[in-house]
Formats: sequence, structure tokens, C-alpha cells
Amino acid sequence: MRRPLVAGNWKMNGSREAIDLLLDGLSGISTTAEVAVFPPYVYLPQVVSTLCGSGIDVGAQNVSEYQAGAYTGEVAADMLLDIGCRYVLVGHSERRSLFGEKDRQVAEKFVASQRSGLIPVLCVGETLEQRASGKTLAVIGAQLDAVLERAGLESVCNGVIAYEPVWAIGTGKTATAEQAQEIHREIRQQLGEPGMKTRILYGGSVKAANAAELFAQQDVDGALVGGASLDSGEFREICKKAYVAN
Ligand code: PGA
Repeated sequence: MRRPLVAGNWKMNGSREAIDLLLDGLSGISTTAEVAVFPPYVYLPQVVSTLCGSGIDVGAQNVSEYQAGAYTGEVAADMLLDIGCRYVLVGHSERRSLFGEKDRQVAEKFVASQRSGLIPVLCVGETLEQRASGKTLAVIGAQLDAVLERAGLESVCNGVIAYEPVWAIGTGKTATAEQAQEIHREIRQQLGEPGMKTRILYGGSVKAANAAELFAQQDVDGALVGGASLDSGEFREICKKAYVAN
């Protein structure tokens, strides 16, 4: 049985005050799913301390592939674990497209996270152009392969995977539930038997109105939610719709 995970990626949004309000709005959240939020680095301690004992986990949006040393501006996986993070996003499409992260670097980040005891959420997904030219499966396959080669099958299967079609991120365009299921099934097939335990989240314009249909798909084990996670009411509704299937 895979317990669904609803993850809120706040991206580069918030202030101390706005985050207090948002967290207030999440208190007493009711769901059988696991819930985690991913604030910007500097607010992690605030969020970890406010959520302590709430049952909501905390993750970071990025991590360095290096362990320690002269890497100005970077944050190590050990540091994230030290301040109370459980999860970390690796290879989000914004990191790949805006900051030039390549498959190899993403694979290193995945390994560094697991080495420290964090659970990496590996993001994969195709652009509109790649989908239009029939390359979706090849692109996602290659993104996964890079991590499989570096980390090994068992390690990848112990992480979380988020399928996020780039064309659906922040655009209001969601993949249909069938489109999502098709790719999730392919990803699980690529992982083989050990992948039966792996949670594969869908991400890209998830909101309360489309969450139930997505969560009803056999291989969709929750969501990575961007914009809608900044609205506590909307995020609560999404969490409510995620349930533990038998
Ligand atoms: P979105 O973002 O829900 O705003 O589309 C998802 C993400 O980037 O993780």
C-alpha cells in the first residue's frame, strides 16, 4: 500500500508574516494522506518549529550536490536534515530550465540527499514541444535513467518521483487524469517490481477542482502542488481528497 503524499511547493514566495498566516490556515488539517510543505530556505526553521507535532512534514526546494566546503551560496543535505527537514525536491523543472541543472547534477543531488537521510522528490517532465513531437516517454525515461545509473534502482525506488509536465506548471493547464495515469504507469513499469512501493506524484496546476480525479488514478499517489499551496483553504481541500486506497 502506498500512502499518498500531498506536497506544497511554495517556490520563492512568502514573508515571515505571510507564512505564519498560511501555517495557521493549515492547522488541524484532516487527511489520511501524508502532507509536506516546501518553503524557501530561509523560512525553513520558522516552518519546522511551527509545524512541530502537527503531523505535517517539511522539505526544501533544492539542495547542493556537495557535502560541505567552499561552495558559496549552497546548502548541504546534512544542514537540511539538521534543521528538521524530511524531504527535498531535486530536479524541479524551474531548476532545470532557469538554472541549467542537468540530469547528471540532479542525480548527484538525489544521491547526496539520500546519503544524509533526506527523502528526495525527483521531478521529471516534458515540455510542450517535446510532447508535441512524441518525445514524452523518451525525455522522462532519460531523466529517470540518469538517476537510476548513479543511484541504483533500489535507491530510486526508496525516493519519491513527481511527474510534472512542464507545460502544466503554473499555466492552469492540467494534464488530464488519463494523460497523468499513462505516464505514471510508464514510470512504474520502468522501475519494475521494486517500483510498486514508490510514490509517484502528479504536479502541474493541481487544485481542489481537479485533485479527486487525478488521485483516483491507479498510479497517482498524490500531488506536488505549486500555486494552490499558497492558499490554505485550497490546499486543505486538495489534501482532503487524497486518501489511502486499500
Ligand atoms: P503549479 O506548480 O501547481 O503552480 O502548476 C507545480 C510545481 O511547480 O511544482
